[in-house]
Amino acid sequence: MPTADELTAMVQPDRVHQRLYTDPAIFDLEMERIFGKTWIFAGHESQLPKPGDYIRVRLGAKDVIISRTDDGGLAGLLNRCAHRGAAMVGTARGHVKRFECPYHGWAYARDGKLVGVPLPQGYPESFDVEDPRWSLPRVAHVESYRGFIFARFTNEGPSLRTYLEPIRDSLDNMVDRSPDGALVQAGGVFQQVYNGNWKVHIENTFDGIHAGFLHRSGWLIVKEWEKAHGGDAEKANSDQMLQMIKANGQPLPQWDESEMRVLPYGHATMGGFYRDPKIRPERDDPTFQAYRKLMEARYGADRTGEILALDRFNSLIYPNLIVNIRFQQIRLFEPLAADRTVLRAFTFRPVGAPDGIFHQNVRFLTSLNSPSSMISQDDHDLFGRMQKAMAAGGFAADGSDEWIDFSRKLGAERRVSPTVQSVGGTSELMQRATWRTWLGYMAGTAPEGLRLAS
Ligand code: FES
Ligand SMILES: [Fe+2]
Repeated sequence: MPTADELTAMVQPDRVHQRLYTDPAIFDLEMERIFGKTWIFAGHESQLPKPGDYIRVRLGAKDVIISRTDDGGLAGLLNRCAHRGAAMVGTARGHVKRFECPYHGWAYARDGKLVGVPLPQGYPESFDVEDPRWSLPRVAHVESYRGFIFARFTNEGPSLRTYLEPIRDSLDNMVDRSPDGALVQAGGVFQQVYNGNWKVHIENTFDGIHAGFLHRSGWLIVKEWEKAHGGDAEKANSDQMLQMIKANGQPLPQWDESEMRVLPYGHATMGGFYRDPKIRPERDDPTFQAYRKLMEARYGADRTGEILALDRFNSLIYPNLIVNIRFQQIRLFEPLAADRTVLRAFTFRPVGAPDGIFHQNVRFLTSLNSPSSMISQDDHDLFGRMQKAMAAGGFAADGSDEWIDFSRKLGAERRVSPTVQSVGGTSELMQRATWRTWLGYMAGTAPEGLRLAS
């Protein structure tokens, strides 16, 4: 197992060693020291509205059931029968009167308490159904903020409210975009596996430069398509997906106009970059105008203006949740192994908004994160190839040719406040900052991950 000093030596101000992406022992430590210690996103309240509803989630290395209990509260239960360890539920979500183990029928209440076993007379006299050792083990904390559920395994650390505070305005804005102030998760969930480390997903999400190169095959086709339509602006501008793909081909220096901010606890934001008529923040199509009217009726013109003006493309809630506030999309990446990650993506219906707004959200989700996306498939394929190259190692016996460089715009950061730094979208500040946070958890240099990139 690597020592704190070894880990520290592998995270330098401008580069990290590739072993941090490939070593299974380091992956196991991450599950313990990061995912085992911090708040992790566990779902949305609208996925389990009634007592008896449940969702099944992966929290770090643990398979967990989030259950709506009889009193309307939430319980996080280890998905493991107290008898002989069978997984209690196999589906992503469902509804139960009580949880019944599929192996030998032990039955548990919605809060995880054992309520019955078949043939109880077969057990020793001392066997007591009431004994808490026979309950499904409970996650220490399951709490929600404005409908977003988070869980934490330990008692140590900041409250959920404190943990989310630096990034809270992203979650608030996402909910405030509903005229009724509520979101409902709607439609299915896209689930994809890529053959790469979980951390490359964070790094890629806040990487302005890559879009012009990695997604070129997509945006070149759109530009050709536009040319073929001979300047018919209406036709060329009418498709949301085409405009999303085309936006990746904006001139490289323009990415610096999207501000990136790194925040305490490893959270981060990246500004928007959509400028074409169908996808820019302020649109003039009838759906958007009808939506704006509903928003103004609820919030007034000034507040509506403020809500709609917040233009952020990605917000990272460390360690593994990325939200898009405008199109109300959530992307959750769940580490399976050092070289394997599941990506789950879903969207919301903003309650009280016209259907057309929800349809735009669905189009955003399918264009960006479906298995047939012309964008994310480039990324996933690249992650797999990157992982293979890193696992193969270099030629130098001392590993000196196995470093990953993050030096772009090192030193160009602007300090917005004592805890917030800002830079343009072509910088690698965010990657450097994320690694400082990572080291804080892993080597114990900043247990709460509060340090910013120096
Ligand atoms: S393993 Fe669950 S009842 Fe036997
Ligand atoms: Fe990408």
